[in-house]
Amino acid sequence: MAPLIAPHVPNPLTDPVVSPAAAAVTAFHRQLPHYAATPLRSLPALAAEIGVGQLYLKDESDRFGLPSFKILGASWAVHCALARAIGLPQSVSLAKLADAVRAWNADTESIAKGEKKELRILGTTEGNWGRAVARMAQYVGQVPCRLYVPTFMLPATQEILRLEGAEVHVLQGKNYDDCVAYVQAEAEREGSILILDVGFDGYEDVPQWVVEGYETMLVETDEQVLEATGGHVASHVVVPVGVGSIAQAVTQHYKGKSPNLYKKISKVITGSTRTIGAGGATTTNAPTTSHAEALWDGKHGIKPEQQTVVMAVEADTAACLRASLAVGRRVTVATADTIMCGLNCGTLSKTAWPILQRGIDYSVAVSDRQAHAAVQHLLHGSSNPRNSINKMKTTRRTTNSDNLGGDSMADDAGCSGGVAAGPCGAATLAGLRQVCSDARDVMKLDGDSIVVLFCTEGPRPYEVPFV
Ligand SMILES: Cc1ncc(COP(=O)(O)O)c(C=O)c1O
Repeated sequence: MAPLIAPHVPNPLTDPVVSPAAAAVTAFHRQLPHYAATPLRSLPALAAEIGVGQLYLKDESDRFGLPSFKILGASWAVHCALARAIGLPQSVSLAKLADAVRAWNADTESIAKGEKKELRILGTTEGNWGRAVARMAQYVGQVPCRLYVPTFMLPATQEILRLEGAEVHVLQGKNYDDCVAYVQAEAEREGSILILDVGFDGYEDVPQWVVEGYETMLVETDEQVLEATGGHVASHVVVPVGVGSIAQAVTQHYKGKSPNLYKKISKVITGSTRTIGAGGATTTNAPTTSHAEALWDGKHGIKPEQQTVVMAVEADTAACLRASLAVGRRVTVATADTIMCGLNCGTLSKTAWPILQRGIDYSVAVSDRQAHAAVQHLLHGSSNPRNSINKMKTTRRTTNSDNLGGDSMADDAGCSGGVAAGPCGAATLAGLRQVCSDARDVMKLDGDSIVVLFCTEGPRPYEVPFV
């Protein structure tokens, strides 16, 4: 399939969403147990091999003790949805909200009389999302959480969801898209709170909160890239796409007009308190020209030609973004099994689509074989296995449905010095290689490029594709 190049257009829709939420969301995440910024890892050998200046990987293999980034969005969405359900502001602290939720559900008399509804969360999942929602339901006052899951989910995965406190129902013969339709109807019928990361007609607030939640990862990334590069921003970022919510967050972050990042660059470069305010107004107490100002266009925000290039990677068995970009509207594609389970979605989120359509610079689909090779390359730090200090013991398993973290590959990575990633996370490296081979010049990937791969999951067992 030929790659698709979307027009390089800054998206004016996104700015009002991103900037105000970022501070509230990062403050919220700091209230959750075990908050810590995930590491940004430098991959110099792979950078040299691929022919880019610097290559970094944002490693989401341990986010609040879970093996993927999803809890960032799930936590904020659950918090906002419960706060709204009981009439509290989003700014309520996690502890206060949990108390209020507990008190609400403990009022069984009013619930029995039908004066109010018991707070209950419903969702669907292929693994990571449901685990994150269930964990969050426990944090916010042990709200009952029920998850409907596709047939192909392994019993072991279901068990992990149960261990997080969720009630799990397998929908026989159903895929992910079917589960979304089913749980939507169930939530409506019983008046429960539907927590999904995919938007559709009449269901837009929750997925928008999910996207806002991912902002914490991006704020951390910017700070880490600034520090690692001595004050530069990423020139290119690569993000995986399932329903498109994480790609939406990445796109609106890098194509938006938020001045926050540029304030920080200014500080790093000048070492002063000189700042660039909203709309580009500069307050000065150190007369100097900064990289930030070179990038900043007072009228439009970040100059379009200086904006970070956003590249999207899908599984070639579920490439709904590519299909939608090709025809200029959101379309559903038939999906097939893939080791990139989290990317196995046939329809983009309604809320993500307009932003991806206008902001994604390049879209590529990769095969299971490419993703598996990328898992190995990350583990070895190179595509040359001799560069690895450690022998890799990839275990052949007969699972393809669990992206909840595994043990076999984590053991390998623990002593190799490489990065242990699951196939969805490693897909971004596979995608970068593909873009470099198809469109290096068009995407201006060269020795000056500073590339960030969003590696969205840690290692887990999967069936190794034939190579
Ligand atoms: C590990 C992992 N990476 C990427 C994605 C894709 O995220 P989104 O569905 O927001 O596009 C998912 C979704 O489940 C996932 O689990």
